[in-house]
Amino acid sequence: MRAIESAGEYEMKTEKQSQELDRRSLSFIMKHIFLRRHQVYYDYFSGTTSWRDCLSILQSLDNGEPLQDGQYIRDYEKVAAKYHGTNYAFSFASGRMALYTILEALGIGKGDEVIIPAYTCVVVPNAIIYRGATPVYVDINPATFNMDSNKIEAKITTRTKAILAQHTFGLPCDLYEIIEIAQKHGITVIEDIALALGAEYKGKKVGGIARVGFYSSDHTKMISTSTGGMAITGDKELASRIEQIYHSCPFLPKPKIKKILFTFIAENFLYHPKFASIGIPLAFSCFKAGLFHFFLDEGKTEKPVDYPYPARLSNIQAKIGIQQIHELEQNIVHRREIARNYDGIFGLYPEQFDGSRVDRKHVFSRYSFLVKDPNFYRKKFCRYLYLGDWFNSIAHGRNKEFHKIYYSAGECPIGEAVARHSANLPTHPKIEKTPKLILKFAKEIVDSGAFIPPAKFKVT
Ligand SMILES: Cc1ncc(COP(=O)(O)O)c(C=O)c1O
Repeated sequence: MRAIESAGEYEMKTEKQSQELDRRSLSFIMKHIFLRRHQVYYDYFSGTTSWRDCLSILQSLDNGEPLQDGQYIRDYEKVAAKYHGTNYAFSFASGRMALYTILEALGIGKGDEVIIPAYTCVVVPNAIIYRGATPVYVDINPATFNMDSNKIEAKITTRTKAILAQHTFGLPCDLYEIIEIAQKHGITVIEDIALALGAEYKGKKVGGIARVGFYSSDHTKMISTSTGGMAITGDKELASRIEQIYHSCPFLPKPKIKKILFTFIAENFLYHPKFASIGIPLAFSCFKAGLFHFFLDEGKTEKPVDYPYPARLSNIQAKIGIQQIHELEQNIVHRREIARNYDGIFGLYPEQFDGSRVDRKHVFSRYSFLVKDPNFYRKKFCRYLYLGDWFNSIAHGRNKEFHKIYYSAGECPIGEAVARHSANLPTHPKIEKTPKLILKFAKEIVDSGAFIPPAKFKVT
């Protein structure tokens, strides 16, 4: 009898609890809908994903189109090669895997050195280390965030095999100077256009100018296939070596590909500025629950073994890649329009907008600037916008034990100081053309005296 009563009591209690929970969730949602309706939360994920891309994935799945190898891959590679004015392009499951394959095709391995800027993403030195080679860091120019080409030669040794010319945040680096230095020493230039797809130098698309290049199409980049990368070259001999490796590369397992496609679609909802105040915590929960797929080898210095590395891009992701390349020019026009608004406040790149004949076309994957204390503003604005922290370390994604990536503290003081002071604003297609809220914050940063113009930048 007692047990039955307990069960009844228990049911009543849980019923009450669940009513209370429903009430609280409802009030949480109502508050977001009615009270915080005016608030917008801008993040940097999924900025180029459209509902049409999502529909296109669902249609492909519904039609039973191949998940791994397929015709879209060939078509995407043709489109990417043509876009860059080169003959060869090879798609991979990520930009870092494309870089790894290029290094392998160049025969770079144990005992070799590769020069990179001391202001990059850690997956760049990691790919070099996975090959058994050593990254060598060159300091940057604080006005451009790119490698200081005057400091390269001092770092060249008999072991140097390549220079990684990274076009940071969308602004072409001193590519022709770098190519000249490389030719003098008989080494290869690898263009890293992960952040600069579509940028131009002297009228040519970056990525297709040096001997070889690669881009990333992960969900934060100029275009998104959720995860993805592409190696590009016009060099027939190098292309045939890349091709050999490419054909020996497996695809990711089908469940992983499905997870990538799910991530792509879910993020389009969850990071949409209209739903983000609820969507971002939900996205975080999905990530914690293991429902999303990203490559997370930032902390590693050995090649991952739990999935094929390097692996190839899947067929349906390639389909999205084709659509996104077709829309890239529109995407760039949008980013440049937004950057022009920001530039009206910060005044960093007037020559990009005042009709001057510039030889470098910036695509502004992010609009970056230097601030005395970026953390203060990140906290202050975090309810409305994610004031970016790309790159907040000389090798973004690693904040300690730099010796593991062959970097000694103090080796590149400008890169270190820039990393401490840099903040950046989003420009992606989901930001409206005149983002009033962001512009208001940007003005607040300048008016408060926190903004550091490059001419006043000192290593602190
Ligand atoms: C400068 C740079 N290069 C290469 C990569 C590698 O791209 P992926 O994440 O697709 O491996 C990144 C990624 O953020 C990057 O920022």
